[in-house]
Amino acid sequence: MLEQVRKYINEVEQFNSDKPEEIELFRIKYLSKKGGLLTELFNAFKTVPNDEKKDFGKILNILKDSVTDKINYLNNQIESNVQVKTALDLSLPGSAEKIGSRHPISIVKNEIVEIFTRLGFTISEGPEIEDDYHVFSALNFPPEHPARDMQDTFFIEQNPDILLRTHTSSVQVRVMDNQKPPIRTISPGRVFRNEAISARAHCIFHQIEGLFIDENVSFADLKQTLEYFAKEFFGKDAKIRLRPSYFPFTEPSAEVDVSCSLCGGKGCNVCKYTGWLEILGCGMVDPNVLEANDIDSVKYTGFAFGMGIERITMLKYGIKDLRLFFENDIRFLTQFK
Ligand code: PHE
Repeated sequence: MLEQVRKYINEVEQFNSDKPEEIELFRIKYLSKKGGLLTELFNAFKTVPNDEKKDFGKILNILKDSVTDKINYLNNQIESNVQVKTALDLSLPGSAEKIGSRHPISIVKNEIVEIFTRLGFTISEGPEIEDDYHVFSALNFPPEHPARDMQDTFFIEQNPDILLRTHTSSVQVRVMDNQKPPIRTISPGRVFRNEAISARAHCIFHQIEGLFIDENVSFADLKQTLEYFAKEFFGKDAKIRLRPSYFPFTEPSAEVDVSCSLCGGKGCNVCKYTGWLEILGCGMVDPNVLEANDIDSVKYTGFAFGMGIERITMLKYGIKDLRLFFENDIRFLTQFK
């Protein structure tokens, strides 16, 4: 009998399983009240001779403990396995971090900058708080020009010399201060004008202005550059047309229209049934501006152009209200990834 019980103990020690059904069968085999091995052995205990009872009792209790220990051990094992598995379930979808998106103005600015850098333009930046010289005087603005009026320009503390730049042409004056021709640069940046805020105008907006000064730069070079830009930005079917205009710093000056990309030039409510959309101002740099910036206007000629990024972005994406760019509504901003 003792031999038999030792065998069982050995068997219990050997037993291993990670399946709850198998562990249950193992439990029934040993511990079941009806027909379980231990129940039978304890019944047999009664027939054991008295002098063997002590040893037999001891070994039966050892067997019983080892069975319950084993069952507890195996069940714990299963439970902790489940926990490890849920902690490390690599198939679960990750918790996504919102990384935000680029502002549509930045997207379009980068795209425009990229097109002009391909043509060899450098990028120049300058201060938003400027002086009269860089914004107006060096650019041939006559003293009585309306832009110099409080109505149109923000001045700092009533000082007529310190103001928020109304265009990034001021940066190009700074480039001419520091650099000899050939100059080929674009100036992206924020500009400020004292205007009532509406769907089509804001007191803060963004511009990209270009300047090209070298020997023998002609109006044809200007036109070709702008045509290349229009086709790169609006698509290869885009056409441009130039209308005579006036700016103090360019002569001759022109306003540039691009064929309406929404209706293909047929006419729609965005282009007001003209087939054309105005996108920028341009012209040949006025010799007065070259001379004011110490550049020999006999030897050198140049062209300049400037566009509003908001306007171009509105045309590109069909946005009807300029104020949306400044409201920081995430539902609007995340559409332009
Ligand atoms: N600086 C002009 C503006 O802000 C745009 C422009 C730039 C026009 C260069 C002609 C040449 O409106």
